[in-house]
Amino acid sequence: MRPANDEERRLHGLAETARERAYAPYSNFTVGAAIVFEDGTVVTGGNVENGSYGMTICAERSAIVRAIAEGHARISAVVVAGPAASVPPCGACRQVIAEFADETCTITFPRDGELQTFTLDEIMPERFRL
Ligand code: THU
Repeated sequence: MRPANDEERRLHGLAETARERAYAPYSNFTVGAAIVFEDGTVVTGGNVENGSYGMTICAERSAIVRAIAEGHARISAVVVAGPAASVPPCGACRQVIAEFADETCTITFPRDGELQTFTLDEIMPERFRL
C-alpha cells in the first residue's frame, strides 16, 4: 500500500464524475470507477441498483463490462471513488478485476480518508483462476 500518485488522483477525478451518474436510489451510496486498460483507454462506470436488490451491479463491474463490450481487454489500473472514508472494492469486483488483470495491476480507493494504492496481489492473494 502506498499513497496515490498524481495520475491516480487525476483518475479519481474521472471516477468522481462517473459517480455523479450512478443510479443508487436504494442505498444512496453512489460509487464511481475509472478503469485503465493496457491500450491506454480509460473507461468509467457507476453502480446501477435495482428494486430487486440482488441485481445491483457495482461501479467497477459496470465499467469493466462496458469496456469489454467496447473491445478493451487487459486492465492495468482501477480507481474507485465513493461517499465514505473507506471504499474498497467488494469481493465480487476483485474477482472480476482478476479475470482481466495480472498481479501488477494497481487498485486505488479511499481508505481511512486517504486515497491509497494497492496491487492486486495485496488485496486479493490466493485468488481463483481457471
Ligand atoms: N458498491 C460498488 O459500486 N462498488 C463496490 O465495490 C462496493 C459496493 C455499491 C453497490 C451498491 O449499489 C452500493 O455500493 C451499496 O452497497
